[in-house]
Amino acid sequence: MRATFLPYGRQSVDEADIQAVVEVLRSDWLTTGPKVAEFEEAFAARVGAAHAVSFSSGTAALHAAAFAAGLKPGDEAIATPLTFAATANCVLYQGATPVFADVCRDTLNLDPELIEQKVSPKTRAILPVDYAGHPADLTPIFEIARRHGLIVIEDACHALGAEYGGRRVGSLADMTVFSFHPVKHITTGEGGMVATNDPRLAETLRRFRNHGISSDARQRQSAGQWHYEMVLLGFNYRLPDILCALGIQQLKKLDANLMRRRAIAATYTAAFREMPGVTPPAARPDANPAWHLYPIRLNLEKLTTGRAEIFRALRAENIGVNVHYIPVHLHPYYRDRFGYQGGEFPVAEDAYERLISLPMFHGMSDGDAEDVIRAVHKVVTAFGRE
Ligand SMILES: Cc1ncc(COP(=O)(O)O)c(C=O)c1O
Repeated sequence: MRATFLPYGRQSVDEADIQAVVEVLRSDWLTTGPKVAEFEEAFAARVGAAHAVSFSSGTAALHAAAFAAGLKPGDEAIATPLTFAATANCVLYQGATPVFADVCRDTLNLDPELIEQKVSPKTRAILPVDYAGHPADLTPIFEIARRHGLIVIEDACHALGAEYGGRRVGSLADMTVFSFHPVKHITTGEGGMVATNDPRLAETLRRFRNHGISSDARQRQSAGQWHYEMVLLGFNYRLPDILCALGIQQLKKLDANLMRRRAIAATYTAAFREMPGVTPPAARPDANPAWHLYPIRLNLEKLTTGRAEIFRALRAENIGVNVHYIPVHLHPYYRDRFGYQGGEFPVAEDAYERLISLPMFHGMSDGDAEDVIRAVHKVVTAFGRE
């Protein structure tokens, strides 16, 4: 058994990160100063988008994207049930209705054929999630969107640095949403970003994160003006300069972080392919996943117990496993509000019973990965059926 607890995710913060934050703390601008544009420009360049607009969280970024997409009461947006609730909640924030479609068996991403079946005259948007960092099946999703005049908001909170068909996630959808929560590929503590190639969407996103005001304090100061106009109902969703400075530094390490995560994923997959009790996550040939998570699925038919006991046994080995996700429609809020009872999305629900996220973060050592492999082997062997 491992001597210390290994979490499922963890940030890496170095001296350069700390220095960058300290510099801003000594400067004139703690919020909405020069670091915001600097971070946004560097981020847009990295993901291959024309514009990037920062937010105080990935959830705020999703809300802004739902607003900019024009979602309103009476509208529907098609989303995956196998995600963090924020993906679907952003539709509710706008008074619109999330309509779920089931996922593909291999990637656990939205199944384009099932999306098609859910399109109605009320549908306005599709919200695919790049589950665990594996890009959603974007080509057929864009094709459905084009045919029905829908906007695509890609929730890439797991997928910073992922590629689809050799192209970068962030350059493809109408709007792509990222998160900088500490377990993600880069962190600002809390933070998020929307990338888009559309200048009008970028303008709306900027206003929405700043009370719907058409200029920010720094622009007004440099123009020597006091006058401003509130043109839409926005929020204070700004990411302060302190955190943007951290983001700028963290972004410099993204390539190294991705390389490390991909190396750990390769080590894991090679080991778990040999274990009959588990199925490693799939990677399609057209995808270069970013490996935010490494979710294995238990082959329950080959085990004498269920996920709960395997989970507890791995925790007892000091392996910080987690589960992503309880399908959104099964949360009490969604059950009560929309009448879901379970059974509506059999692929997502079956996956949920089997999923266990293993530790996956760029600061993990080879020894950490070996500890995980050894623990999984020990536990699934102990509960293996002959
Ligand atoms: C798929 C997905 N969407 C949205 C979010 C929300 O991001 P944040 O925690 O930055 O608000 C998360 C957060 O983990 C997520 O995993």
